[in-house]
Amino acid sequence: MTPQQPNWWKTGTAFQIWPASYKDSNSDGIGDIPGIVGTLDYLKDLGVDIIWLSPMYDSPQKDYGYDISNYQDVWPSFGTLKDMDDLIEQCHKRGMRIILDLVVNHTSDQHAWFQESKQDKTNPKAEWYMWKDPKIINGERHPPNNWKSIFGGSAWEWVEERQQYYLHLFVKEQPDLNWELEVVRQAIYKEAIEFWLDKGVDGFRVDTCNLYSKDTNFPDAAISLQEEPYQPAFKHFENGPRMHEFLQEQRNVCLNKYGDILIVGECPGSSEETILSYLEANEFSCVFDFNTVDLGTNRTLGGKKHHGYKHQLPDFKESLARTQRLIQQHNVWGTVFLENHDQARSVSRFATDNPEYREAAAKMLALCITSLTGTLFLYQGQEIGTYNHSADWSIEDLRDIDSINAFNDVKDKYNDDPIWNKKAMRGLATVGRDNARLPVQWSAEANAGFTDANTKPWIRCHDDYKNVNIAEQLQRADSPLKFYQRMLKFRHEYRDLMILGDFELHDLYEQKAFTFVKKPKGTAEEGASKQELLVVCSFSDEEEPVDMPSRLKSRESELLVSTLGEESAGKYLRPWEGRIYLIK
Ligand code: GLC
Ligand code: CA
Repeated sequence: MTPQQPNWWKTGTAFQIWPASYKDSNSDGIGDIPGIVGTLDYLKDLGVDIIWLSPMYDSPQKDYGYDISNYQDVWPSFGTLKDMDDLIEQCHKRGMRIILDLVVNHTSDQHAWFQESKQDKTNPKAEWYMWKDPKIINGERHPPNNWKSIFGGSAWEWVEERQQYYLHLFVKEQPDLNWELEVVRQAIYKEAIEFWLDKGVDGFRVDTCNLYSKDTNFPDAAISLQEEPYQPAFKHFENGPRMHEFLQEQRNVCLNKYGDILIVGECPGSSEETILSYLEANEFSCVFDFNTVDLGTNRTLGGKKHHGYKHQLPDFKESLARTQRLIQQHNVWGTVFLENHDQARSVSRFATDNPEYREAAAKMLALCITSLTGTLFLYQGQEIGTYNHSADWSIEDLRDIDSINAFNDVKDKYNDDPIWNKKAMRGLATVGRDNARLPVQWSAEANAGFTDANTKPWIRCHDDYKNVNIAEQLQRADSPLKFYQRMLKFRHEYRDLMILGDFELHDLYEQKAFTFVKKPKGTAEEGASKQELLVVCSFSDEEEPVDMPSRLKSRESELLVSTLGEESAGKYLRPWEGRIYLIK
């Protein structure tokens, strides 16, 4: 009997495109869909199998496309529906798949549904969003509860016409849809999901997919931030009581018709058990667990951008190991990722952006993540080791509403004190979302080759694009980009170990190196190959020993890859080096 082929979405490497900053084809300073089409061969050569396109839908762009005003159209600056047809076709022609972003926890306040809903309490869509009466205290009007919006301020906004508040877990221009109503769910399936699956897309990355079901008693959240009027309320809206019911309905009524598609859910703030419950019920193909990207943020406790701290290496190992364990022990699937459009750059956060070691560190992270089990997601610019912007930038250089709100929060609270402002900027240079949203550094030419020389890009270019760019790295054999190309091929070559294999962590508490073994899945199975891979990654400015687990010491081993060159690899790991040994 031939073993069953794994689903395409398990073995494929995905690459996320955030369209505004990817490639501008018509010199208006904003990336666009024709710009993407022009780079598909580059992505194919890199080894990309699946493209995840962040929202390109029509939108007022308050949250850069995550506020959708029409699911069935494209934001004019990005292109047209015809451009999307072309992109889908051109991906498929190259044997690549494409998934879109599905943003249906909320819409834009400019969506026709909301425009109708807000008019009065009796219109046909009156209940399509989450409306509540005010709380009256001493004759004064207050929001229905103390929930804090994820992007700051109250999670409720007053509407004169209705004399009511509506809920917005994100900015006020992103009202939350009322998933409690079947007619709303049906409209979402038809307009946001089926419309695009009918056009041939291969699935979705599902935005904030664990927020649809809220605690509809809307209780006040416990006070965890003294001195603040609004409190983090994740407990009351993350992974709520009807989540499974909604997601199962979505699978059965809508998604199942489309066969083997990829549905990857964004699941912040979720325990292992919760994640497992979504996966075991096949509500998602796999999810983004925030374990790693939340390191050093205290996010769920209400930590703000300037509260970040540097995690320790064991925390990083453990955060990745959690997904590896889940896959292994429960026969479900997972993702591997360090970056996306909401996260700062991985080299800066998880390794080092010290110029002396930055490239080595970028390659070491590449080796590390390409060796892990799960669907690998890369983010634009990660393949060249793009690092964070400088803390000397000013708030005027940034565009992200979350970052701007975070800055203003500090500025207002401390009366525009320059040292507090500086702290706020340092926080944003460490974890702010615009780190990921600067123009892709295509070349050393003006504007990093993102747009033409005479156009001002919509957001400032990284200061270092002359040194860190795709054109330069494409023609240099030891560049991070060339190393990614090599590793992505390698990942397919050693698929059974690297993509599908079991993971064994060695010495969790070691502070300077991350060592793990990849073994064939269920090694006990008869006929399974006995070869294993030993992966060693240095997180150190100094030489570090290669620490082989005792059980492997008697086996023959061969150095397969070193990020710094196999020929020159000696007994010790060089600073920030990564290696893979084949254990025979
Ligand atoms: C998700 C997106 C983020 C967006 C938010 C609201 O977390 O990744 O970019 O701001 O949802 O839609
Ligand atoms: Ca453009």
